Amino acid sequence: MLFDTHAHLEERNFVDDLDEVLVRAKEQGVSLILNVGYNLKHARLSVDLAKKYDFIYAAVGLHPHDAKDATDELWEEIYTLAAHPKVVAIGEMGLDYYWDHSPREVQRQVFRHQIGIAKDLKMPIIIHDRDAHQDVLTIVKEEGASQVGGVFHAFSGSWEMAREVLNLGFYIAIGGPVTFKNARKVLEVAQKVPLDRLLLETDCPFLTPHPYRGKRNEPGYVKLVAEKIAELKNVPFEEVCRVTKENGQKLFQIG
Ligand code: NI
Repeated sequence: MLFDTHAHLEERNFVDDLDEVLVRAKEQGVSLILNVGYNLKHARLSVDLAKKYDFIYAAVGLHPHDAKDATDELWEEIYTLAAHPKVVAIGEMGLDYYWDHSPREVQRQVFRHQIGIAKDLKMPIIIHDRDAHQDVLTIVKEEGASQVGGVFHAFSGSWEMAREVLNLGFYIAIGGPVTFKNARKVLEVAQKVPLDRLLLETDCPFLTPHPYRGKRNEPGYVKLVAEKIAELKNVPFEEVCRVTKENGQKLFQIG
């Protein structure tokens, strides 16, 4: 059984065939999905999905792309949404210095603010970090985010950084990129991260694994990630599925 710990099924790409996508996911052994909202509209839609499907849970937060839209009213609504019993994390949050869709200073402020919300609510955080490794680590440390813990999603750092992330008590999530031909850093990280600190994810509809790269990603493809991890670690596939699912359930306090 598999846990896709990072999906965006509320995206427009899934409007026409979500039920078929979910049937395929179950056929591939996916029994839990965490759907991650990244702005107010998508946070609401994520909670709606969690209400509708028993095996879908939700996270609510503000992505660095949308950090510029932060208002007091938005934070109030995030608190309200987070009170739903199927909301199990705050995020995704973090820094994205690749796209720079919000000013970096605003991204940093909004990241710090959300760590504060997570600490207030005693909920784990989901971190998005693109080309901002050093600043993300600095903020995580300065804000005491280890008190609540969480996951570095779509981890793209070096093994050196991964060690620091593990020492801070965080999990590392790996998805489709580990199956790419040009993957190098992420292969090393996947090999070396202890299995009991690893989460699997798709980030669907994005980051589609080989051999479907270029097409829409979906939760069922998390099986391809699990197979690759099993091969890299020389651990039985069933064990990768079981342990990573238990890791996710422990972090997000599910079941
Ligand atoms: Ni995401």
